[in-house]
Amino acid sequence: MDLGYRGRRIVVVGASEGIGHAAAAQMVGEGGDVVLVSRSENKLAAAADAISRSHGVKPGIFVCDVTQSGAGDELARLVETRWGALDVLVSAVGGSVRSEFAALDDEAWLSNYNFNVLSTVRAVRALLPFLKKGNAPAIVTLGGAAAKMPYANQVASNVHKAGLIGLTKTLAAEFARTGIRVNSVAPGRTLTSLWTTRADTLAAEQNSTPEAVLAHFADEIPLGRFAEADEIAVGVVWLASPRASYITGQTLNVDGGIARGLL
Ligand SMILES: NC(=O)c1ccc[n+]([C@@H]2O[C@H](COP(=O)([O-])OP(=O)(O)OC[C@H]3O[C@@H](n4cnc5c(N)ncnc54)[C@H](OP(=O)(O)O)[C@@H]3O)[C@@H](O)[C@H]2O)c1
Repeated sequence: MDLGYRGRRIVVVGASEGIGHAAAAQMVGEGGDVVLVSRSENKLAAAADAISRSHGVKPGIFVCDVTQSGAGDELARLVETRWGALDVLVSAVGGSVRSEFAALDDEAWLSNYNFNVLSTVRAVRALLPFLKKGNAPAIVTLGGAAAKMPYANQVASNVHKAGLIGLTKTLAAEFARTGIRVNSVAPGRTLTSLWTTRADTLAAEQNSTPEAVLAHFADEIPLGRFAEADEIAVGVVWLASPRASYITGQTLNVDGGIARGLL
């Protein structure tokens, strides 16, 4: 199936590794003109080289920390200079902080909100004028299964990932008449550095091994295993493609069945 990516102008924020990187790589493979965004120039250069080796095309890279208030201006300058219009924005920055409720102070809450919600708000707000000039423009945010099935000891990201669904739904309605679609992908447990780091920490705390920790968490997933980043990225790539032209305001769980709610 041709997903219609040839020549599509694409910014993926949070693309030096993990799910954002996998989505960017697939979009390059489909013929998109992609810029990878993250905080680390070294990681971005390595990520672009890896995509170039797999697909024969080297994506652009752009260093930007989207938790900083000036990030919007920086992203806008990037798109203004490179294309003057934008077809796809993927916002893949976010994560959880493991803690009981009582241990989280205001600063921890605000920091996680900045990481999970404001990072996307800043990117969307800055790039909206360019998306309005794009072809079949689409935004995909990265939520999490936690929004529909809150995890124990992750209260801040449970709340903020639910907020991201609210943001996605609201923007989808507000932007609909401009032609911009807005959707979200809610990953379940996915083997990225987020989980390899967590497994190392938990193994040290529990006098266990990272493998045993991961096996325990995998056991709770109906499909019985973690996702690979590529398996989540498929949902992102499809929702951002012109093939999904009548889908907006939706959150697609790609979670191996872990969120068991009906809605
Ligand atoms: N993995 C999971 O199990 C899982 C589950 C549910 C939801 N999710 C969600 O899926 C999304 C992607 O997760 P992931 O597992 O792929 O994460 P990851 O492997 O930790 O990758 C995160 C990416 O974001 C970049 N990044 C981090 N902070 C940034 C910032 N302030 N500004 C710009 N770039 C930044 C990182 O690169 P630099 O270090 O170079 O900045 C990296 O490229 C997140 O929203 C996460 O909450 C993941």
